[in-house]
Amino acid sequence: MPVSIALLPGDGIGPEVVAAARTVLEAVATRRGEPFEFSTHAIGASALKAGGPALPPDTLDACRRAHAVLLGAVGDPTFDHLPPAERPEGGLLALRRGLGVYANLRPARLWPGFEDAGPLRPEVARGADLLIVRELTGGLYFGEPRGIDHEAGVAFNTMRYTTGEIERIARVAFDAARRRRKQVTSVDKANVLETSQLWRSVVTRVAAEYPDVTLNHMYVDACAMVLITAPARFDVVLTENLFGDILSDEAAVLPGSIGLLPSASLGDGPGLYEPVHGSAPDIAGRDMANPVGAIASASLLLRHSLGLVAEADAVDAAVEGALRAGHRTADLRGSSPVLGCKAMTEKIVERL
Ligand code: IPM
Ligand code: MG
Repeated sequence: MPVSIALLPGDGIGPEVVAAARTVLEAVATRRGEPFEFSTHAIGASALKAGGPALPPDTLDACRRAHAVLLGAVGDPTFDHLPPAERPEGGLLALRRGLGVYANLRPARLWPGFEDAGPLRPEVARGADLLIVRELTGGLYFGEPRGIDHEAGVAFNTMRYTTGEIERIARVAFDAARRRRKQVTSVDKANVLETSQLWRSVVTRVAAEYPDVTLNHMYVDACAMVLITAPARFDVVLTENLFGDILSDEAAVLPGSIGLLPSASLGDGPGLYEPVHGSAPDIAGRDMANPVGAIASASLLLRHSLGLVAEADAVDAAVEGALRAGHRTADLRGSSPVLGCKAMTEKIVERL
């Protein structure tokens, strides 16, 4: 059976970066002599504009049948007036929930030689190489009851976690730490929130199964500060959904641009892979986007969903080679001429 990959280009720069990642995946398939089977489906504002919901049922079905899903971005300011569930972003949340991808992996690493690329002083940023493991299908994003009562002038959301949800995401973090520097920092707000108190006690219990991994706990406000004052202190950062959303954008300054960052969302079925940058409507359709986040997400797809580790290593090496050779998109500081999305992709493909 051929490997099937569902492509969800979505909105803004999504279609451009998904096309870039597809080019890389096709080059990998050609070298292996086994083509991947691609199918393309609507999500987000592009689905809304076609008259459907932000996650059309056909799209979810196709994703469930595929071996893996690669998504570009969702989001379009035209729909900002709609209630959260009807907006383009609602389609992404429904997809995460529908695929049961509870574990979101967001690696952020400063490549040696790129200390000048970002806003932090080189001596602060140097050595940053961390993995955020964000719980993705629970917490405030999905907790019930939720709502807004306009007459009473009150709105509410519910932060809710079960022991089982915490255990399974903790295991993902400890397993990942075993393949890295064997340190987990669990981030919570246990000085204020009951969900965090349960979180801390469950994570501590799971840690006992991993005597070779060191666990420490940190409050989320302190973590936000340490992330940009001493980022090299972190290896694996384990946290709940909303904290992980915020901290992963903050961590995105470390490599120099959010355009470089990939993510993998894993559960028991097909994995969902997406660059961390959003739809960036201001530069959409102008061949200006950085394709690296999407291409690195395709590498995670090869590694985690298809078990093609050598191929994933080759893609990572090609990306690193292109960046080291000085090739840059507009979001990266540097002295070389700025490349567009397509030209940058070519520089990567020619190194495969
Ligand atoms: C992310 C994004 C999403 C989130 C939005 C688009 C719903 O910010 O993937 O981090 O909040 O999870
Ligand atoms: Mg986010």
